[in-house]
Amino acid sequence: MVELALPKNSTINEGKVWDKPAGAANVREFKIYRWSPDDGANPRTDTFYVDTDDCGPMVLDALLWIKNRVDSTLTLRRSCREGICGSCAMNIDGSNTLACTKGMDEIAGPVKVYPLPHMPVVKDLIPDLTVPYAQLRSIEPWLKTETPEPEKEWRQSHADREKLDGLYECILCFCCQTSCPSYWWNGERYLGPAVLLQAYRWLIDSRDEATGERLDDLEDPFKLYRCHTIMNCTQTCPKGLNPAKAIAEIKKMMVERRV
Ligand code: SF4
Ligand code: SF4
Ligand code: FES
Repeated sequence: MVELALPKNSTINEGKVWDKPAGAANVREFKIYRWSPDDGANPRTDTFYVDTDDCGPMVLDALLWIKNRVDSTLTLRRSCREGICGSCAMNIDGSNTLACTKGMDEIAGPVKVYPLPHMPVVKDLIPDLTVPYAQLRSIEPWLKTETPEPEKEWRQSHADREKLDGLYECILCFCCQTSCPSYWWNGERYLGPAVLLQAYRWLIDSRDEATGERLDDLEDPFKLYRCHTIMNCTQTCPKGLNPAKAIAEIKKMMVERRV
């Protein structure tokens, strides 16, 4: 029988338990993934206690409270703190979501916070997004045209503009991408739901003139057809978008152009 040994740093140890804030009337327990490339140690989960009367109601507020008041080395990304930039995406209470729009009151018990799953970790809650960004670049997410540029602007009817609803709102947080089992197993070759939603956004833009070329590029056993309609992506999207539907629409376009 084959004996498998787990890689040395694949187990997550119990980490440091930080003191409860003195005199706080309302305290919330947080269990937060920690890993630094600098110390060679295994990942761990640290336990923090947050004074919820001293910070805002969102998970991001609590994480920043911890960083400012307890442990300044806690490392995370964030920018807009209102669900627009996508940078605070992480796994909270078992689901990928945005820390800035996830309320602490939506979670029962200790708040468990991990980086987006199945991605290399840069440090603590920061995933390495080099691969998905390269994949995004590969679909050329910009308007491609051949006719000479109009004097003023590329025109679009209201009806054609409405076809972009449910797509243009994507903030590229990659919550869907990192919740997709097909992406976990084939992340280097399958483009994943976030990138395919973007691909569809340009495929159905009435102003774009590279539809055939874009479809040719997606006609590949791995880039598109690894989606098995498991729907994790749609379930987890914090913006309420439906990447699985966008992928199904691309597959439909592939079939339609053959007949
Ligand atoms: S529907 Fe497709 S893209 Fe979405 S989680 Fe399932 S396999 Fe992944
Ligand atoms: S489709 Fe939703 S979950 Fe996926 S990247 Fe866009 S906003 Fe994030
Ligand atoms: S900080 Fe911008 S989406 Fe959360």
